[in-house]
Amino acid sequence: MALAFLRWTFRLLMVLIVFQGVCVMFYYTPNTHSSRDGMTDALRQMHCAKLRRKFSMIKPAKTVKLQSFTRGLSDFMSCPYRSNTTEREVNRLSLQFFCNATGSLFLTKRNTAVNQTISYETSITSTFTMNATLHSMLPEVLCVCVCVPWSGRRLGRCAVVGSGGILKNSSCGSEIDSADFVIRFNLASINDSDVGLKTDLITINPSQIQKEYKNLEEDPDLLVERVSVYGNASLVMPAFAYTFCTELSIRALNVLHPIRPQKPMAFFSPYYLQTLGGFWKRRGLKPRRLSSGFMLINTALELCEDVHVYGFWPFDTNMQDNPVPYHYYDLKRPSKRMHKMPEEFVRLLQLHSQGALTLHLQPCSSDTR
Ligand SMILES: *[C@@H]1O[C@H](CO)[C@@H](O)[C@H](O)[C@H]1NC(C)=O
Ligand SMILES: *[C@@H]1O[C@H](CO)[C@@H](O)[C@H](O)[C@H]1NC(C)=O
Ligand SMILES: *[C@@H]1O[C@H](CO)[C@@H](O)[C@H](O)[C@H]1NC(C)=O
Ligand SMILES: *[C@@H]1O[C@H](CO)[C@@H](O)[C@H](O)[C@H]1NC(C)=O
Ligand SMILES: *[C@@H]1O[C@H](CO)[C@@H](O)[C@H](O)[C@H]1NC(C)=O
Ligand SMILES: *[C@@H]1O[C@H](CO)[C@@H](O)[C@H](O)[C@H]1NC(C)=O
Ligand SMILES: *[C@@H]1O[C@H](CO)[C@@H](O)[C@H](O)[C@H]1NC(C)=O
Repeated sequence: MALAFLRWTFRLLMVLIVFQGVCVMFYYTPNTHSSRDGMTDALRQMHCAKLRRKFSMIKPAKTVKLQSFTRGLSDFMSCPYRSNTTEREVNRLSLQFFCNATGSLFLTKRNTAVNQTISYETSITSTFTMNATLHSMLPEVLCVCVCVPWSGRRLGRCAVVGSGGILKNSSCGSEIDSADFVIRFNLASINDSDVGLKTDLITINPSQIQKEYKNLEEDPDLLVERVSVYGNASLVMPAFAYTFCTELSIRALNVLHPIRPQKPMAFFSPYYLQTLGGFWKRRGLKPRRLSSGFMLINTALELCEDVHVYGFWPFDTNMQDNPVPYHYYDLKRPSKRMHKMPEEFVRLLQLHSQGALTLHLQPCSSDTR
């Protein structure tokens, strides 16, 4: 009788041990070494808290080497996410105070006058004079989400989808599509499996017009068809970033405006982008120009309750040390001249560990959240 009881207890104990082992393994798969399999809950929480502190204080180095923090990073990305309302509110208020995307993200009929002199974002010597023709094609008011004058109403969950090759085979499509507002870049391709289809705002890079639509006026259908896949999304161009951007952006506007009269086609306000650049310069991030991805993540931090960032990964291997393409949709290499993607990435990592936004670096199916 006693023997039977002992045997039964022993079996139960074994089952419990195995079960716990399985749980811990699931929690950490596939990034952890087996030495951590036996880690208790408390130890794991401590480990996560330590990593969270480490990444929230990570020093933005001049040259960011992936190898210097990958190991900890992959553990950290498996830790439960901690949102911090205070951080979110502080970021929102300072961005609104200094940059005010709410009032000035795009040039509109309301915030821009005919004959007004527009300064360029990156130049103090060049200017552009707004004329009546162009002014008549600007959107009436800022309408990012619904076309009512912005009244400071916030968007809910926003997904900002970069072009990083880590999105390949990520299965993140449905998660991205479930966001209230989706921001994409450079007319990136969309599909339901990895990157999703929903698009509320997408940028067009003036150099895309220059390279891919040489005969825009004679053959507008190519561009018209390309943008039609994004439905009613706002199309936005940085027409006053550099002087070469203006003519290209106006040509695109001339072609697209008549075809989608009720669907917004807009130009970023160079004042907004300039103040945003200054905002980050004061915080030690000083590229020639911030990447449009980083810019719009900041816009989202101001306008949205909850910001989820996908496809931002500036390294050529992933956290498991496998090669990843730079873009999910082509084989192009990055231009290191212009932007400082790794430095921007460190800032995003900081914001993630502070609980201000959620950075997604792993496939969505095995996401522990
Ligand atoms: C949230 O962030 C604030 C400001 O950085 C900090 O003081 C606070 O401890 C954080 N709260 C939590 C729960 O981590
Ligand atoms: C932002 O711009 C809007 C519209 O111009 C204005 O009503 C609002 O007061 C501005 N907010 C701040 C914080 O400057
Ligand atoms: C803009 O300038 C032109 C030429 O100087 C002038 O004819 C026109 O009345 C001005 N328009 C406005 C709205 O100031
Ligand atoms: C307004 O400016 C655009 C771009 O510079 C130019 O193509 C257009 O001819 C101008 N329109 C008038 C009426 O001056
Ligand atoms: C994605 O999956 C396909 C098919 O399973 C595979 O051939 C390809 O190498 C994977 N690509 C990446 C970047 O993981
Ligand atoms: C685009 O907008 C038009 C007019 O507002 C509307 O009828 C149509 O359903 C919208 N299309 C999509 C895909 O939302
Ligand atoms: C979705 O897009 C990704 C990246 O372009 C591609 O690798 C994948 O094969 C596409 N999937 C489908 C179902 O089209």
